[in-house]
Amino acid sequence: MGIVIAIDGPAGSGKSTTAREVARQLNYTYIDTGAMYRAVTLAVIRANVSVEDHLAVTDIAAQADIRFAWIDDNLHTLLDGEDVSSSIRSVEVAQLVSPVSAIGSVRDILVKRQREMANTANIVMEGRDIGTNVFPQADFKFYLEANLETRARRRIADYQKIGQNLTIPEIMAEIEKRDKIDSSRQHSPLKKAADAIIIDTSNLKFEEQVERIIQTISLANLSQDKNGSEPNRNQ
Ligand code: DC
Repeated sequence: MGIVIAIDGPAGSGKSTTAREVARQLNYTYIDTGAMYRAVTLAVIRANVSVEDHLAVTDIAAQADIRFAWIDDNLHTLLDGEDVSSSIRSVEVAQLVSPVSAIGSVRDILVKRQREMANTANIVMEGRDIGTNVFPQADFKFYLEANLETRARRRIADYQKIGQNLTIPEIMAEIEKRDKIDSSRQHSPLKKAADAIIIDTSNLKFEEQVERIIQTISLANLSQDKNGSEPNRNQ
């Protein structure tokens, strides 16, 4: 088992950009678990299956071949060999991803794959339940949060990039709805792990967010060198 850095938090909290840069600086593998739930949701939409049909959705999740590939310094998501990086960021996927990811049997399938990813590499994994459920013994756990408007402002450019021009109030409504479902669902809801370091990114610059995480890790490694013991590594 490699070293695991878990970064959780709601939509737009800065998880993805931060996790990616932390992974780059440490030379770890970056894994965006939200992209996995989004890829399954895209497959569900394309198959014209209702999100209420849990059996059919679970079947789609089980069949989906989801992989990541770095192309031109960008992380691309591949679904059954097709590059779906842009399609999974659409508002249509955003509106259905929370009901899909609330289905316990879908989570079981994806969580198993996520755990396997740490078998052979040191990873920075970001999502909603990484520190609480996927890797409760992660070496480092961070929980990023920010106020709703800041989070919506961060998302507007993502939508523009794929040609969807949503307003700030529209994005605020979308992520607020998603937060509600993600944090109240029965199976591993979004919540802060008791031992996670909480970082409010509302007033932080990107570099500062990254720096806080890198510093925490470096300090822990320093004290580990001194004591000869490892931080929180029970897996
Ligand atoms: O990080 P994101 O916005 O791309 O995630 C999309 C959705 O996927 C999110 O609203 C809930 C779900 N998700 C989840 O349930 N568990 C995870 N570990 C990651 C994402």
